[in-house]
Amino acid sequence: MLKDKKILLGISGGIAAYKIPLLVRMLRKSSAEVKVVLTPNAQHFVTPLVLETLSNNAVYTDVFAHENNRNTEHISITDWADMMLVAPATADVLAKMAYGIADDALTTTFCAFDKPVLIAPAMNSKMLAHPATQEAMKRLESFENVTMLPCAEGELACGSEGKGRMIEVEELYFAIQKALEIQSLKGKKILITAGATQEEIDPVRYISNHSTGKMGYALAKVCALKGADVTLVSGPSQCSLCSLACVDLQKVKSADEMYEAVEKRWSEMDVVIFCAAVADYMPLKKEEQKIKKTGENWSLELVKTRDIASKFGKQKRENQLLIGFALETENEEENAVKKLKDKNLDYIVLNSLQDKGSGFGGDTNKVTIFAKNGDSKHFDLLSKEDVAKEIIMYTMAC
Ligand code: C5P
Repeated sequence: MLKDKKILLGISGGIAAYKIPLLVRMLRKSSAEVKVVLTPNAQHFVTPLVLETLSNNAVYTDVFAHENNRNTEHISITDWADMMLVAPATADVLAKMAYGIADDALTTTFCAFDKPVLIAPAMNSKMLAHPATQEAMKRLESFENVTMLPCAEGELACGSEGKGRMIEVEELYFAIQKALEIQSLKGKKILITAGATQEEIDPVRYISNHSTGKMGYALAKVCALKGADVTLVSGPSQCSLCSLACVDLQKVKSADEMYEAVEKRWSEMDVVIFCAAVADYMPLKKEEQKIKKTGENWSLELVKTRDIASKFGKQKRENQLLIGFALETENEEENAVKKLKDKNLDYIVLNSLQDKGSGFGGDTNKVTIFAKNGDSKHFDLLSKEDVAKEIIMYTMAC
């Protein structure tokens, strides 16, 4: 998602500066280009050499340095970058940026920057609460190209607990992705089901499947990056989402609970993506006590679960978009298209367990999307996040 994007990182003199080299690595791994500008105080916490090595670019520290192109690096760097992140932003730098004081490389660059800027404050909680800092943050928030990121709560470098920590590097990375993404799903309400369900047999045993939820969580992330209002109804899963994605996460266990969670929110949704691997059958009865080991054989009576996609597909409103998934091991296309019709979906995403790298648990997937008008599109093996992007692009044209 960040391939070839040009990202300018501004670092000021807070202890959290030591985390920024990790962010530079993450961005470079995503094939983004990175340049760094440092305040004089930031150099007490992180060296230009580390950042130069990781970014593979010269670090900008001094407006008057001889090697700078006739002292106008702050202009050429702003022309070069697609966006800027100031992290950590100290009380000092916030105040300067808010009032146009441009007395070092970072603040001069900020003053000349007219593209999106993200600011991640980090300081002691008393400094954060000070009216001067609060006033500066409010003023910065009112600038058209500036987005203030939140501070986190927790242990601070001074030893006390409170609000003022810089948000984590993964969250900064998410914020950068979002700042560079066109908000094409803004105003859309999207519900996604994800993961496996667990159907309890007794207090210690359940029936489930190998789904991990990765595909559904990737869809939720991509929809959130594009500005959608996302609800994720997830079966038990180890996957997580960035807090900045603001996804409404509804954790459920059984197919029945998943059904009820969807039913509650169904009517207000514009798009529903049924990505969960819902159990088709559940035990007729859940035993109150652990079932004891007795004879050589044991049989368990199962009853059908309610088919969520099918039930809500039948109630689909004209302006609602419904997307299902099909995981098949034989007659893949035929089975997928049958499900598309039977469940009254608009699209169905087929993944086959026959394809290497496709299916449960891994980070990649290989899918074909079938549309109800008979069109279809096959995709090569991609990361689940890229598959999510392609699904959204194909089904929602954005
Ligand atoms: O019929 P099958 O389970 O193969 O259909 C798969 C599709 O139906 C998926 O989109 C899945 O999320 C959805 N489904 C559902 N509720 C069920 C079973 C499947 O929503 N009980």
